[in-house]
Amino acid sequence: MDLDLSNRTILVTGASRGIGRATAEALADAGATVAVHYGQSKEAAAEVMETCGRGARTFQADLSTLDATDALIERVVDAYEGLDTLVLNAGVAVPTPLDDDTHRWDDAWSETMHVNLRAPELLCRHALGHFRSRSPSGGRIISVASRAAFRGDTPDYMTYAASKAGLVALTRSIAREFGADGIKAFTLAPGFTRTDMAQDFIDEYGEAHATSDLALNELTDPADVASVIVFLASGHADHTTGTTIDVNAGSYVH
Ligand SMILES: NC(=O)c1ccc[n+]([C@@H]2O[C@H](COP(=O)([O-])OP(=O)(O)OC[C@H]3O[C@@H](n4cnc5c(N)ncnc54)[C@H](OP(=O)(O)O)[C@@H]3O)[C@@H](O)[C@H]2O)c1
Repeated sequence: MDLDLSNRTILVTGASRGIGRATAEALADAGATVAVHYGQSKEAAAEVMETCGRGARTFQADLSTLDATDALIERVVDAYEGLDTLVLNAGVAVPTPLDDDTHRWDDAWSETMHVNLRAPELLCRHALGHFRSRSPSGGRIISVASRAAFRGDTPDYMTYAASKAGLVALTRSIAREFGADGIKAFTLAPGFTRTDMAQDFIDEYGEAHATSDLALNELTDPADVASVIVFLASGHADHTTGTTIDVNAGSYVH
């Protein structure tokens, strides 16, 4: 099977660290030109750009703010004269404890919803405009949600779970409505994956909490998620459009 992504331009949001970084590097390894988006981790993003090569460039945008989010797709399209695939990976997991002060709870809720759901929807609006303008070649959108969208999460992370469930519904709507324009949309639902985000959770709840319900006896690595994204970006899985792929070390079958 040919997973050659040469001549494809792919924007990966949150490519400076964790799953996004592994994804950017794996896509470049398969030949893609990667737009390496980051929020605050400028040096890390520059390292990813170096590792990717093949014309990779960095794009800073704070996805908790409307204007920066609004401009990102156009900046990438202008830089590369096009965009083939959008990987919506950037995300936050901010605890929103039930007994928190209402204003702190609301700030955390707003940040989570903005980065995990509102920003993806705004990025999709612009990407859809671009993809539809070049119909029938269209484009692909790959959203990184979470198994929390389906299983729910601990009380402190209910907001996170809700934001990811919204992302699943957003991605499915795109798959339903824009298939005729050649647009395909997929969701990944990772379980615990060894990144900074998971480490915060492990620090709080312990590694046993993360591994206790897995069929495999190891946590998922960012590279395990990245390889599925490469496959989806290749076009070999286009008829799975609208679906969600679980990457969770077998926690549903355990
Ligand atoms: N790790 C897990 O166990 C797990 C499980 C299920 C789903 N996921 C999902 O997988 C995705 C990647 O998670 P990860 O574990 O790789 O997380 P991570 O290591 O914490 O990395 C998060 C990435 O998102 C970017 N980001 C966060 N807030 C941003 C903002 N306001 N503006 C712009 N960029 C922002 C960060 O960029 P900067 O550092 O440059 O700001 C970073 O590149 C997330 O959507 C997460 O919800 C993770």
